[in-house]
Amino acid sequence: MKSRVKECVDFIRSITDFTPKAALILGSGLGAYTRQIENVVCTIPYKDIPGFPVSTVSGHNGRMIMGYIEDVPVVCMDGRVHHYEGYTPQEVILPIRVMRALGAEFLLITNASGGINGDFVPGTIVLVRDHISMFVPNPLLGPNDPELGVRFPDMTDVYDPHLRSLILAAAESEGIPLETGVYCQLTGPSYETPAEIHVLKVIGADMVGMSTVMEAIAAKHAGMKICCLSLITNMAAGISANPLSHEEVKLAGRQAEPVFTRLLTAAVSTIKEY
Ligand code: HPA
Repeated sequence: MKSRVKECVDFIRSITDFTPKAALILGSGLGAYTRQIENVVCTIPYKDIPGFPVSTVSGHNGRMIMGYIEDVPVVCMDGRVHHYEGYTPQEVILPIRVMRALGAEFLLITNASGGINGDFVPGTIVLVRDHISMFVPNPLLGPNDPELGVRFPDMTDVYDPHLRSLILAAAESEGIPLETGVYCQLTGPSYETPAEIHVLKVIGADMVGMSTVMEAIAAKHAGMKICCLSLITNMAAGISANPLSHEEVKLAGRQAEPVFTRLLTAAVSTIKEY
């Protein structure tokens, strides 16, 4: 795995010596945020990076963009890869390790999710405070490379408390409502049944999706400071009477774009005061 990371980093370093402070991952329907990146240094299609996984899902582009958001140097993944596309957990987290090796200390994750908490109607933005990982394989299974992180990483505060408090304060001063909650990743690609959503509610999940947790575990292992903004695109199965569709998820992403954009920029900006 380490050599795959190195191969990707060597390729990227043959294009640019840019050192990002923060890494961003844009989830389903949130790719338009790339327009906010200023002084773009380079745009690299995933398919050009040797061994890098390529997104196959509609609504996910496949390129890495480097530039600045409010003077913070960022590397942005415009589109992510998921376990359900057939990628192994190790492949899913390769981009995280690559961005870390490029220098990123912070990871800002975005995703689309289904609301389990009855207060989370479509369009609600939730700052993830914790996650439930038990339904997906742990991406750290296998031999541990001590250069990447410790064998048994602590997961008490995956989503950095100080970063979260800065983002909550920034949202408040921008007048943007921001909830907090617990995210649960399932593998997908089928959406959940109402009975499964009932189980997730009982064990404390506020929202459900098909990404993020594996990425966050790898980033925490690598010592990054992590936060995650989740856009509720639909009520989870059985919470609302409507059947779920990917079209609905993408549409909700587009509708929330202006406010989500403002919040994400404010969140990146907090890194300067961290
Ligand atoms: N379930 C799983 N993943 C999702 C959902 C959902 O309801 N909405 C957006 N991503």
